Amino acid sequence: MTVAEQRSSAIAQTLERIRAIEARDGVSRDSLDAIRAELIALAARRELFPPKEFPLAQGKGERFEMLSVDPDGRFELYLEVADKVVDTLPHNHTTWAVVVGIQGLELNRLYEGEGGEAGDAPLKLREEVPVTAGSGICMMPSDFHSIHMEKGELNLHLHLYGVGFAHMKDRLMFDPASGRYLPYNPALAVVA
Ligand SMILES: [Fe+2]
Repeated sequence: MTVAEQRSSAIAQTLERIRAIEARDGVSRDSLDAIRAELIALAARRELFPPKEFPLAQGKGERFEMLSVDPDGRFELYLEVADKVVDTLPHNHTTWAVVVGIQGLELNRLYEGEGGEAGDAPLKLREEVPVTAGSGICMMPSDFHSIHMEKGELNLHLHLYGVGFAHMKDRLMFDPASGRYLPYNPALAVVA
């Protein structure tokens, strides 16, 4: 089998177990912890994700490679490859999400609060979680996070969403400058 075939097979087996966890236990902090453990085990097989198979395009410092999505848009898995400064605004996904590291560092900031109307009190930082090889974070649908990466090392991380981006509805981002929640806008949410 080629590496690509081995990767596809490992991803399919991992997602089969993850679907079963969600079907059995629903969406909770505990079930997401179990899903994270499955994804960390997949990410630990670094030989399945050789950077040379996911090169960054000329002049681009970031790449999102969709690895899998169900026909109904559920269980959308991405490989994010990045070697650039990345800073996003705090945002939610309105679906559960799990991020785990293969290599490099994706600093995640997690926030208090679950969104609200424009003009509501600002989000407060709850904790910073460095997501590296062997670690990961879980987010419930209403959780807010922001992502921060540096240039100078190749970051590879797996991102799994309960439903894919095309199906996420009513997402919010938080604009610290104005102290307001705003409808999520990908063009504005990534500030660097
Ligand atoms: Fe996010």
